Amino acid sequence: MHRLQLSKVNVVNSQGLAKIYTLQRLIASIPSVILFMTSQIRFLMCAPDHYDVDYVINPWMEGNIHKSSRDRAVEQWERLHHILKEHAIVDLVTPEKGVPDMVFTANAGLLLGKTVVLSRFFHKERQGEEPYFKQWFEENGYTVKELPKDLPFEGAGDALLDREGRWLWAGYGFRSELDSHPYLAKWLDIEVLSLRLTDDRFYHLDTCFCPLNNGYLLYYPPAFDSYSNRLIEMRVSSEKRIAILEPDAVNFACNAVNIESIVVMNKASEALKKRLENVGFRVIETPLTEFLKAGGAAKCLTLRVTEPVREELHANVSVESRILRLEGHLLDTGMINRALDLIVDNGGSFQVLNFSLGEQRQSTSAAEVKVSAPSHEVMEEILSQLIDLGAVNLPQDERDAKLEPVIQPGVAPDDFYVSTIYPTEVRLNSSWVKVENQRMDGAIAITKSSNGMVAKCKLLRDLEVGEQVVVDVQGIRTIRKPESREQRNTQEFSFMSAGVSSERRVELVVEQVAWELRKIRDAGGKVVVTAGAVVIHTGGGEHLAQLIREGYVQALLGGNAIAVHDIEQAMMGTSLGVDMKRGIAVRGGHRHHLKVINTIRRYGSIAKAVEAGVMKSGVMYECVHNHVPFSLAGSIRDDGPLPDTEMDLIKAQSEYAQLIKGAEMILMLSSMLHSIGVGNMTAAGVKMVCVDINPAVVTKLSDRGSVESVGVVTDVGLFLSLLVQQLDKLTSPYTLKVR
Ligand code: ARG
Repeated sequence: MHRLQLSKVNVVNSQGLAKIYTLQRLIASIPSVILFMTSQIRFLMCAPDHYDVDYVINPWMEGNIHKSSRDRAVEQWERLHHILKEHAIVDLVTPEKGVPDMVFTANAGLLLGKTVVLSRFFHKERQGEEPYFKQWFEENGYTVKELPKDLPFEGAGDALLDREGRWLWAGYGFRSELDSHPYLAKWLDIEVLSLRLTDDRFYHLDTCFCPLNNGYLLYYPPAFDSYSNRLIEMRVSSEKRIAILEPDAVNFACNAVNIESIVVMNKASEALKKRLENVGFRVIETPLTEFLKAGGAAKCLTLRVTEPVREELHANVSVESRILRLEGHLLDTGMINRALDLIVDNGGSFQVLNFSLGEQRQSTSAAEVKVSAPSHEVMEEILSQLIDLGAVNLPQDERDAKLEPVIQPGVAPDDFYVSTIYPTEVRLNSSWVKVENQRMDGAIAITKSSNGMVAKCKLLRDLEVGEQVVVDVQGIRTIRKPESREQRNTQEFSFMSAGVSSERRVELVVEQVAWELRKIRDAGGKVVVTAGAVVIHTGGGEHLAQLIREGYVQALLGGNAIAVHDIEQAMMGTSLGVDMKRGIAVRGGHRHHLKVINTIRRYGSIAKAVEAGVMKSGVMYECVHNHVPFSLAGSIRDDGPLPDTEMDLIKAQSEYAQLIKGAEMILMLSSMLHSIGVGNMTAAGVKMVCVDINPAVVTKLSDRGSVESVGVVTDVGLFLSLLVQQLDKLTSPYTLKVR
């Protein structure tokens, strides 16, 4: 206090000295000399007569029950009281028995001007304090606002005014509910910026965040989610942000009382003290270790009851809420958990308004959930993920999808909705239109046709000027098959829902795939195979060739390599120079595949080479011979390439897309890139079997969240050999019992 007054004198009297004070220091020192203001600042405290750690409602209290010394607590509290009385007026509220945390008056409520929003404690252990604080506020002339029941909010512990009064920072995530924030904005007529706390040690905003005079901010960034950190950085310029490190944070350095230029706290590192002094603050340390055992320190023990209103500012709250309806086997499938977790993980909060539980195993459940998010941006993120889960908006809330035109070919409007593998519908002119060409990672383009509006999934590069693209997340729904546990178990492909299968399950999987292949073939359906060169190296070539010959495969997708090594084997008996019969490298064998490429190039195409009788067996031979279309997509590492290999990847992608149209099942055999490529273009509902010796590949592909995909971690040559054996056993599909 004294020092700063002196510095003010210096600033006024000596031009020379003034220059050594940075502008920031100058600003920081001004209010300290306006003594009448200082004297008007009031705090509310509550003596620790009944203070103790009686229960555990935060991590600091764990292991500390009855471990704090009352005497030391009294002594520490009195020292704090004394310091504050030197700089402000301190009012006292009578301590009450049975509510040991009442010392933490920060949690009494949130004040602005003469209005107070009374706290509604999250834990029943503290709810007993509410009437005592309410009484004090009423007796002292405040208008008390009370939140609806079941809407927790813990006062100034979780809501901190910018010290310039420009806005209110409000925390949520542990004690206060996001949905309380719009009430704060409305009742206090101020802009509310919602910050999500993510570290349970910093369960109240004031444990990790402390706005200081002149727009400075002392805070511990890791206590917040990334969206909140971004918001903080947008509002507080970098030179005003004083981010502290964990050692200071766990000493509750952010739990500080700031009166003009002094900052009172439990403890600060030398570095932090320096940092604060450099911008004109003086740190007063006063040990509050007994209160740390309950998870509180200086700021928690005080409530600033004089918070002047800035008349020119008005309410503004970016919290948005929407009511959604979820329907399906919500419990059986774990959908409800996934939906609620997803809301919270993305920074939102929810309230289940009603839940009707399907009574029979086969009947579905429905839930109405109110979702709140701190901003429109977060809401969109949450909604788009909920849409992917199959959540739909409430009918009375239904609105048409928002459209924006394509103005540059191949470029979507910024906010475009990214499509998923699930059947999707968009609402256009009040009716739901099914999206065609469903695939993931596309945009939904809308065009008019003679019989109404057409919606199609398109890749960005295919968007044309004049088309409208669905933006935002409104008026979009995805349809998920409402499979109950029961239904899933009776379906033949039920094992598919289990994800990755281990070795011991290979045979079971083979049996079911064989059954499925036979069924599809006999019904004239379509099976597509993507295969990598490993199929040939592991001796699977002859089996795949057999599958093609016997009509089980309707299209083959691969790269240059599978064709090269297959033809190498057909023509020279080796694969990558290894003799496939004896399993040993042939001298000079590494040149074989180039000889093969050269030969095929001479003939102009694989088909022409087959025609000329150059190759008489193998996978490619069977494709040509049986008119099974194939597409070979090139890559940077290709030798040759074969004349059939498509080196223009955009063309190759569309060839692939063309060939998988109408497929009922896709067998992905040891080719990570081709398989992922295919996975990306395939809508849900197509059965996918991914076989690879590398579990990572299998997991990646079978982890699409769709029930129909399965991964098998095994040697692909072995898999194919078992598969043909199994097919040979099946004389008719009807001899196999339906599982
Ligand atoms: N034991 C108290 C609780 O967990 C401590 C409150 C600290 N207050 C605060 N404003 N951070 O609620």
